[in-house]
Amino acid sequence: MYKLNGIVTDEFDFFKGNDVYELTEKYGSPLYVYNEGIIRQRCRELKNLVSYPKFLAQYSAKANTSLAFLQVVKSEGLHVDAMSPGEIYAELEAGFKPEDIFMITNNVSEAEMQYAIDKGVLICVDSVEQLVQYGRLNPNSSVAIRFNGGIGAGHHEKVVTAGKKTKFGVNPEYIPQVKEILKQYGLKLAGVQQHIGSLFMEIDPYINGSQAILDIAKSFDDLDFVDFGGGFGIPYKKLSGQPRLNLKECGEKLDIVFDKFVKEYGKEITFRIEPGRYISAESSVLLTDVHCVKYNNGPHKFAGTDVGFNVLVRPAMYDSHHDIEVYTRQERPVNEEEITIVGNICESGDIIAKDRLLPEIKAGDILGILDAGAYGHSMCSNYNNRLRPAEVFIREDGKAVLTRKRDTLEQLLENYIRLN
Ligand code: LLP
Repeated sequence: MYKLNGIVTDEFDFFKGNDVYELTEKYGSPLYVYNEGIIRQRCRELKNLVSYPKFLAQYSAKANTSLAFLQVVKSEGLHVDAMSPGEIYAELEAGFKPEDIFMITNNVSEAEMQYAIDKGVLICVDSVEQLVQYGRLNPNSSVAIRFNGGIGAGHHEKVVTAGKKTKFGVNPEYIPQVKEILKQYGLKLAGVQQHIGSLFMEIDPYINGSQAILDIAKSFDDLDFVDFGGGFGIPYKKLSGQPRLNLKECGEKLDIVFDKFVKEYGKEITFRIEPGRYISAESSVLLTDVHCVKYNNGPHKFAGTDVGFNVLVRPAMYDSHHDIEVYTRQERPVNEEEITIVGNICESGDIIAKDRLLPEIKAGDILGILDAGAYGHSMCSNYNNRLRPAEVFIREDGKAVLTRKRDTLEQLLENYIRLN
């Protein structure tokens, strides 16, 4: 294999000597390939974000729920969050203890809440009404509450989860009511939580947001923790030199905020974060075969691949940018040209990259879609009755191992029942 613009994967030594043509021949295309070392590195960076001693990084599993992924995160000593019984189930299977799991609910049913209670998982509720529901189901226990501190941030309005326009969190004006309900059901408020949104590259909204939830925290005595949520961004435009999030500065600023709060509050509480994307995004390159190259509507050149939005929905759903590398079987000169990369779904929104300046692409090439590890496979679907792809981990010793099989045709029909 040859790389026509493999700058990013070369820098990370991503494939560790594995040939992308051999990988896709063995496991099929498209294929999510992960580099285990990168997952570990990102876990360690966030575990060591601050110097304040009582600090906990909980991986937000919605970004990538594969068992192998969770196992690696567990072995790095992080905790996890969960949104659903399905995530709790996978996390327990991956070896997490109930006390390592924090379920952050949003409009859950009684049955879903009961599942977490039965497993011994601490629950964070997101409305006054669901606090009552929790109190009825599990009186005289501990609970956490998600608040909306009024500051939101994120890469797209669909993922801004605090501020005036969102469904999330309890508004501070309800604090007196919250206190009454806690008392009525004998509940201890173990912690308060917020998540302002997904993907910030500037740290000020996060720091200001932390201040807002800490102001809310002061209304409650004897909390054990405050959780600031996730949102730590990664540079999706590495090929254009986009800089990384300044973690050092972020950690230093958080340390100042933490120290000040602890002095005022009079108790060394735990501070938690819930990063999903930062831990997982850069650990995966999504490989896709190019099946066809053609011109449509005059000069518009298209490369048709097998990554439809059922395999990677982020570009179609949020106009997200993913850098693309071009891999070839034979060496050839790099002639850059503008091209649109599309999938195989029968919708014109099925676009991975629009009008991109890339080395000339030909049928038979393989493209590497970078930074696909967060909200990539976890958002896959079987739309058009296509098979969700396999996942492969490149271990630290360079060995490639299958961690999720590709779907089979039989699985597509497994849950359907024929009419008689
Ligand atoms: N905590 C809570 C309560 C969340 O809802 C989320 C993400 C996180 C933590 C982790 O956020 P992160 O660190 O990954 O930014 N599908 C979208 C992102 C959706 C984020 C949903 N909530 C995307 O592909 O960009």
